[in-house]
Amino acid sequence: MPPGGATGGASAPPLPSTLGFAAVAPNTQDAVVVPPGFSQQVVIRWGDPVLPGAPAFDARAQTAAAQAQQFGFNNDYLTLIDLPGQPGRALLVANHEYSTEPQMIPGYNPDAPTAEHVGIGMAAHGMSVVVVERDPASGRLTPVADPLNRRVTVTTPMTLAGPAAGHPLVRTTADPEGRTVLGTLNNCSGGTTPWNTVLSGEENVDQYFANGEAVADPVAKEKLARYGMDGGASDRKWETVDPRFDLLREPNEPHRFGWIVELDPFDPASAPIKHTALGRMKHEGANVRVGPTGTVAVYMGDDERFEYMYKFVSSRTHRAGDAAADRDSNRRLLDEGTLYVARFSGDAPAAPGQVADGGGEWLPLVESRADGTAQSFVPGLSAAEVLVHTRLAADVVGATKMDRPEDVQPHPTTGRVYAALTNNDERATPGKPGVDAANPRAQNTNGQVLELVETGDDPAARSFAWSLLLVCGDPAAADTYFGGFPKDQVSPISCPDNVAFDTVGNLWVATDGNELGSNDGLFAVPLEGAQRGRVQQFLTVPKGAETCGPVLEERLALVAVQHPGEADEATADNPASRWPDGGTSVPRPAVVSVWRTDGGPLVQDRTRS
Ligand code: FEO
Ligand code: CA
Ligand code: CA
Ligand code: CA
Repeated sequence: MPPGGATGGASAPPLPSTLGFAAVAPNTQDAVVVPPGFSQQVVIRWGDPVLPGAPAFDARAQTAAAQAQQFGFNNDYLTLIDLPGQPGRALLVANHEYSTEPQMIPGYNPDAPTAEHVGIGMAAHGMSVVVVERDPASGRLTPVADPLNRRVTVTTPMTLAGPAAGHPLVRTTADPEGRTVLGTLNNCSGGTTPWNTVLSGEENVDQYFANGEAVADPVAKEKLARYGMDGGASDRKWETVDPRFDLLREPNEPHRFGWIVELDPFDPASAPIKHTALGRMKHEGANVRVGPTGTVAVYMGDDERFEYMYKFVSSRTHRAGDAAADRDSNRRLLDEGTLYVARFSGDAPAAPGQVADGGGEWLPLVESRADGTAQSFVPGLSAAEVLVHTRLAADVVGATKMDRPEDVQPHPTTGRVYAALTNNDERATPGKPGVDAANPRAQNTNGQVLELVETGDDPAARSFAWSLLLVCGDPAAADTYFGGFPKDQVSPISCPDNVAFDTVGNLWVATDGNELGSNDGLFAVPLEGAQRGRVQQFLTVPKGAETCGPVLEERLALVAVQHPGEADEATADNPASRWPDGGTSVPRPAVVSVWRTDGGPLVQDRTRS
């Protein structure tokens, strides 16, 4: 059990930062605020052209056809992949989580949206692939027309892969074979594989499916409810335009969403793949680590209160080398292997000023095999049921109910795994699970970050050790913890969501839903040496926005500014933000690049001090 951080530290002079930037103070500006000495640029915004011939954005004349050719809404996951043989050019891949039509479309009627307005929302979902050119003198990126540019939307054909593909649970009127799904929904975070594909998590897919409350079969109804599909009309009313979103008409359509989607950004004609072997849940994202023998582990969180953390371990091994030659082999990695769920054990803090740590097990749920069959390890549930109703399977084996698992990502060099548990305001409230060692606070509004070490440093291990790296919140509050670093020298942080790593091994944390009165932001956290746990804020995002998709290169940081101006009362005619265009414009989610104005590295020193 490690000691807790010092709470006072008034007599200790602040240590010099190893990061080389001055922390940005909490604020509520309608702007992206970066440290002195840094520059920023909007790379691409909602509505900017992606495909050749896409019209320029006009909020008052938007159409579904235009939106399908333009950058989508609410960018979340980001990746930047250099194009082989094309110096200075890279693929920017973004996903688009959800639409907020009242804040997007002037004159939108939420009670009876027009078919055109529904179509705009549908086309604003999905993913974008855009080639960008790098400015050699700065971190500026310029989108360019290119045959690789692509939009994926709610109508893009996708392939179901793994043992649940073709099962009766995923067959529909339009797809009696159960193997081809139109579109992807609510893509939250994601990951980039060593074989240069992009994984994207389908998260809150319940919000698109109507009439779960009217389903007659009590067993089916209970399963739908566990996935949040227990209401009447959906908010966006898509069921009025496309019957597949009406559970009374297409009861299996929701089983075709809630998967990890794999996109090959180098092949714009390829059908994205939904990997059923990775289970169905409210997937935040998926992050890959290749073990010493080539076995691939995929770490995943199910982002809802009291849901679980998962790991998939491949049966096949990764083939490094020529990407094209090994494409078919690597593409099957995520269809053959075992899906596990995490059970944590540990000690509660022994005394004030201490934090918990402990151990844990990866409990097997289902093994997917090369011939398309699978074996369930869960009593009473078939393999297909485990894959399609993974939450129910995890209940049976006694997994640990967590505080909303978001990004779960292995460190690129140490292999330690960092899990953002964003918050859980229902923890230890009447009728709900109480606190435990890894989820130590009742009515947890600020979240925590766990650090896991796999046994033997093997990503295929069946057990792990864990500790609390950060217990987020106001550093002055007694219940917060910053890796043992003096709390009077850290930035306040609330609601961790995405995690990422820079090129020298620091952890970066993006937040969503700050409960401390500031806008959300991006924070850097050294993990080694005397500075371990020293949270320092690198930027803040505009009013109402969350910070997503951080990419940390040696000389630039990219962030996705999602839902600027999001507020209950806001509309496109009366917005709560004017970012990024100012004046009388509607707010537009956008990708922002940040770099050191003098051209130096993003992080000036190293993690160790
Ligand atoms: Fe879409 Fe879990 O954040
Ligand atoms: Ca998220
Ligand atoms: Ca991440
Ligand atoms: Ca979130």
